[in-house]
Amino acid sequence: MIRLFHVSKIFPPNYPALVDIHLQVEKGEFVFLSGPSGAGKTTLLNLLFRDEEATEGQIIVNGRNITRLNGAGVAELRQELGLVFQEFRLLPSLTALENVALAAEVVGTPRRESRRKAFTLLRELGLKDRHDCKPPVLSGGEQQRVAIARALVNDPILVLADEPTGNLDAEMAEETMRLLLRIHEQGTTVLIATHDTGLLERFSHRVVHLQRGRLTGDSKHPGEEGSA
Ligand SMILES: Nc1ncnc2c1ncn2[C@@H]1O[C@H](COP(=O)(O)OP(=O)(O)OP(=O)(O)O)[C@@H](O)[C@H]1O
Ligand SMILES: [Mg+2]
Repeated sequence: MIRLFHVSKIFPPNYPALVDIHLQVEKGEFVFLSGPSGAGKTTLLNLLFRDEEATEGQIIVNGRNITRLNGAGVAELRQELGLVFQEFRLLPSLTALENVALAAEVVGTPRRESRRKAFTLLRELGLKDRHDCKPPVLSGGEQQRVAIARALVNDPILVLADEPTGNLDAEMAEETMRLLLRIHEQGTTVLIATHDTGLLERFSHRVVHLQRGRLTGDSKHPGEEGSA
């Protein structure tokens, strides 16, 4: 599903955010991307949906070499992905329901069906009573859940989530993780960036660890890091 070969990202003028990353994630895997603040987790996710381009190396996502994509190719790539951003990126003038439904409509789902799917997801995420609210009046955790609903509305084959539980209390974080696990059980590949070590301990899934832009640990391949 995801393959990175010798991937580096240097931000101008000369800041190495990612250094020579090798990583392989199979279809259907559930992987945590961990590491301290500034380790490069968000940068790595940004490379995977071509928000940023790698300075060096090759990246394959779902069989496509995304280092060589034109605008149409990037749009196609993103249609297959469910993205949860660290800072939500909701449209402030639309309601929660509209934010989620719009994501379905833009890929061609009929309006009624889009709204139905959006409503169902928001209900599952505990936002049944908040779907008519606009993001500015929602709490951080509520906005987080709207963003997760939006990421899931098109049944993505790969979900990339950046700190999806970062703004949630323990109970809601647990609930959100359970939802992501359910999506995973349906066959979706899930990659979650988090610095919440408690989360890694509670859920025994593969953990890929970054530190200062380098891959310093992988629970699936213990002891191999840095040797590739
Ligand atoms: N556009 C940019 N220009 C310059 N430096 C950047 C840019 N984006 C990120 N960086 C730097 O790259 C490093 C990695 O950042 P990144 O956001 O990927 O870290 P992170 O692991 O997601 O951290 P956090 O846990 O705080 O979200 C940081 O030192 C950051 O300052
Ligand atoms: Mg980050």
